[in-house]
Parts: sequence; C-alpha cells; structure tokens
Amino acid sequence: MLFSGDNKSYPLGIDISDYSIKMVELEKSGSDIRIQCMNKISLPSGVIEEGEIKDEKRAVDFLHSLIEKPFFGKVNSDRVVACLPESRSFVKLIEISSGFGNLSEAIEAEIEKHIPFSSQEIYIDWQEIEKKNNKHLILVGVAPKKIVDQYYNLFTKANLSVEALEIEPLAIVRSVLEEEDPNYKTSLGKNYIVVDLGYAHTNVFVYSKNTILFTFSVPVSGKKITRTIAEKLDIKELEADKMKKKLTEKSKYYKEVKNILDDYYKQLDQKLGRVLEFYYENFSDRGRIEGLVLLGGGAHLKNLKNSITSLPPSVDIVKGNPLLHISLTEKSEALLKKNDKLIYSTAVGLALSGIFKKEL
Ligand SMILES: Nc1ncnc2c1ncn2[C@@H]1O[C@H](COP(=O)(O)OP(=O)(O)OP(=O)(O)O)[C@@H](O)[C@H]1O
Ligand SMILES: [Mg+2]
Repeated sequence: MLFSGDNKSYPLGIDISDYSIKMVELEKSGSDIRIQCMNKISLPSGVIEEGEIKDEKRAVDFLHSLIEKPFFGKVNSDRVVACLPESRSFVKLIEISSGFGNLSEAIEAEIEKHIPFSSQEIYIDWQEIEKKNNKHLILVGVAPKKIVDQYYNLFTKANLSVEALEIEPLAIVRSVLEEEDPNYKTSLGKNYIVVDLGYAHTNVFVYSKNTILFTFSVPVSGKKITRTIAEKLDIKELEADKMKKKLTEKSKYYKEVKNILDDYYKQLDQKLGRVLEFYYENFSDRGRIEGLVLLGGGAHLKNLKNSITSLPPSVDIVKGNPLLHISLTEKSEALLKKNDKLIYSTAVGLALSGIFKKEL
C-alpha cells in the first residue's frame, strides 16, 4: 500500500501545471506546522495543455510516480486538495444590492455577464466578504464543469480522493501572506499586488485585508521568454532556458537576452500600472497598495524588481515566502536550500487549507 491513509494526516496539496506537478504534505507538531513530504516532477508536452488534461493515462502514471518517491519525506495521506488551472477558472469580488431577493440567483445572473459560459456549464462557489450600505460584497469562484470533472476523474483514477478543488490565487495567498493565518487580526491587514510568474502564465491579483479583489492575466510567461530567446539566437530551447536562468553581464549573449527580457518587463510593468489604476478607481476606500509580492520561477529573472517603475516607490517589492507559516526542521531547511521554494506557493497553500480550516 502506498499510503497509511490515517485520519490524523492532512490532505496533500497538489499543483498541476502544463510543465510540472508539485506536491506538499504538511503535519502538525504542537502548534508548529511542518513539512511531512514534498516532491516535484516535470511533465513532457502533450500531457496537460493550457490546463486541459490531454493524456489522462500518462497523467495518472505521473501522479503515481510523484507520490511514490518524494525527494523529501513520505506520503501519509490519500486525500488531495488540488487547484484548477488558472487559465480555466477565476475568482472575483462582486457587489450585489441587498434588495435583490435570492442572493444565489442574483450572483448567478451577475457572474454570467463576466464569462463566456452559461450557468449550466459552470460551477459557482461564493462567500460573503462584507455587507455595507445595503450592498453585499461577494467573492465568487467560477470554473467550467468540464474542467472540474476532468481533474476530479484524474485523481480518482490515481486512487486519490478529492477533498477540494480550489482556484489558484486563493491557495497562493494562503501560503505567502501573514493575513491568512487564522490568528491574524484582520483589522491590521494590508493591501498587496501579488504576481505569480509561471511557465505558461503570469497572474497578477490584488489582495486587500483578507480577500482577493480581482485578478488579471498578463501575456508574459517563462515559456514565451525562453522561446523568444531560442528563436532570436537560433539555439535550442533547453539552452535558451539555461541562458535565461544564469544570465550575468559576462554571459555570451548578455545584450541580446537583456533586450528580450526588457521587452517582456515593459509589458508586465504596463499591466501593473493598469492594475493600480483599476484598484484606485474601484477600491480607493481600502487604502493604498503597500506591497508587491513576486512568486513563481520567473520571480528570479534578472533585474525584474528594478524594471517595475509604474508603482510608487512606497510600494515594497519583495520575493514572497511560501513557507511563511511553516516551521522548518534542520533536515527540511537543508533540503530547501537546494530547491527553489518560490515555485511551491500554490502547493503549500493547498496543503495549508486543511490545517487552517481545522483550526477555525
Ligand atoms: N532562476 C530562474 N530565472 C528565470 N526563470 C526561471 C528561473 N527558474 C525557473 N524559471 C522559470 O520559471 C518557470 C517555471 O516556474 P513555475 O514552476 O512557477 O511554473 P508552473 O507553476 O509550472 O507554471 P504555471 O504557474 O504557469 O502553470 C519556467 O518557465 C522556468 O524557465
Ligand atoms: Mg504555477
């Protein structure tokens, strides 16, 4: 048997992207939250594309190998909290007037205005954030039934039972923001822009005092940058990816690669400027944006931080810490020195959902 499947364990957090699958299981020791196990495997192209499972059989095999031999610890649970692909799901804060009668029906009608699906084709989940001046502020998560069913079936076929499928920004903020700790005083909460620079997408979202307000997608991604370098320099993508990751002023094609990066940084910077404008137009009563948190493998890109000029200097730009709520042992600390923790924010956040929920 692969798992002990006991009730004391917390569900695995599994983050599936087109490029990799990451897994984190957490445990509790007194009030400390510790890493029980951790693993990551790369996916070849053709298994998951744009979040759709294209080759279920191979995806099941990859899930099995992910679970069998973690690079740290041992899997203890057969339950999973996973996330839905960012490109296929979204989360948004909407306003509903109190006089509307049935709240669920009002939310459904409002959400249909924002998406190219009918209400029969989607799952909607929502929670009320606050009620003010005869208006309900509702955080709504939406995902197409087709995608939810694909992910549910995939885990079931891998003998894992799905405890929840979440929308990614909710998992990300849970791991990196102190406001998400159940013991945090929300009245102190700050306002942040969070940027997750992944392989296939860059997602930008605004988090304010314990809730996500809105998300934006930016057409800049690790894959695009690597491909542009490969095409412009006429080299293999593998080599281009290495060049991107190890760029220094002494690198052979430094100038060429720097110009490519600068073009993408400009696109990201412009979008961040628009995000800030949108925030102040719609949510200025929540106060100023205080921080920008960078996450994902792309957060390591050379000079990225200095290229962000569209935000006022008062915004503190930092790399996020996905292990903010985790206590490291000597062993797990040594291991994480060798691994990139910036890419684990989603998996850690998913794994934390069981722990934070049980504490409430
Ligand atoms: N040191 C580095 N410098 C620049 N880019 C890097 C570095 N390390 C990793 N990357 C890039 O980060 C990307 C992978 O990041 P990440 O693991 O966060 O993506 P993902 O979660 O698999 O994808 P997505 O979130 O888009 O679904 C790759 O494109 C890789 O080239
Ligand atoms: Mg990711």
